[in-house]
Amino acid sequence: MRLLLVGPPGAGKGTQAAMICTKLGIPHISTGAMFREAMAKGTKQGQKAKEYIEAGQLVPDDVTVEIVKERLMESDCSQGFLLDGFPRTVAQAQVLDGILEELGIKLDKVISIELPEEKILERLTGRRVCTKCGATYHTQYNPPLQEGKCNECQSDLIQRSDDTEATVKRRLVVYREETAPVITFYDKKELVCHIDGDKPISQVLNSVGQCIGRDL
Ligand code: AP5
Ligand code: MG
Ligand code: ZN
Repeated sequence: MRLLLVGPPGAGKGTQAAMICTKLGIPHISTGAMFREAMAKGTKQGQKAKEYIEAGQLVPDDVTVEIVKERLMESDCSQGFLLDGFPRTVAQAQVLDGILEELGIKLDKVISIELPEEKILERLTGRRVCTKCGATYHTQYNPPLQEGKCNECQSDLIQRSDDTEATVKRRLVVYREETAPVITFYDKKELVCHIDGDKPISQVLNSVGQCIGRDL
């Protein structure tokens, strides 16, 4: 199955993606996570991405498109994939169309997780992520079993460097201006399921299952 997951910052894309991909046995491709990995390794690409990410801006399309293209060519994507956080500009969506055409494949669904703006700040300021495996928690809505430690690998949990109030506000403006039009782009192709993200995590997962016709 070939899926896209779109939605504003903090909507729950990463949380849902982890569960969907485990169940379907497909790779979870998050451009944000790929950039954070490059940042942690201190590569040139990571250093460049860091400037944009911590300012709440999008990383330039040419950089982003290149890493996605390379990733989709890897063999584990041949049976399907879930793209999380890409495309987030109409230009990226057009490039993706070209890549898919070249590979002779089509998207099955675009899952749009929707969340009102006033809920976003509390989602992101309460988020904690594992330094080692990237698992995501929330101090109130999805707390780890032991405070500050990952359930999966017991490593330390931290806050993301772009989860400050000022950066989140900037990310929201960028979302409204640059990413919301991507949903319209796919609406025209009748590929989108609009899902209410303002529900408990398990309920959102059920809605995703209904969208793709699979029991999750
Ligand atoms: P990225 O990492 O993609 O961030 P984002 O889109 O801003 O989304 P988030 O990861 O913040 O939120 P999410 O929807 O995954 O929510 P989560 O599941 O964690 O991108 C980061 C940056 O990288 C961008 O700003 C940009 O600079 C750059 N970038 C990435 N892709 C790019 C691209 N294609 N082009 C250009 N630049 C790009 O959940 C949030 C919190 O809520 C968690 O604490 C979670 O536990 C909790 N939660 C989840 N679901 C629920 C629920 N149903 N109820 C209650 N709490 C919940
Ligand atoms: Mg995410
Ligand atoms: Zn972990």
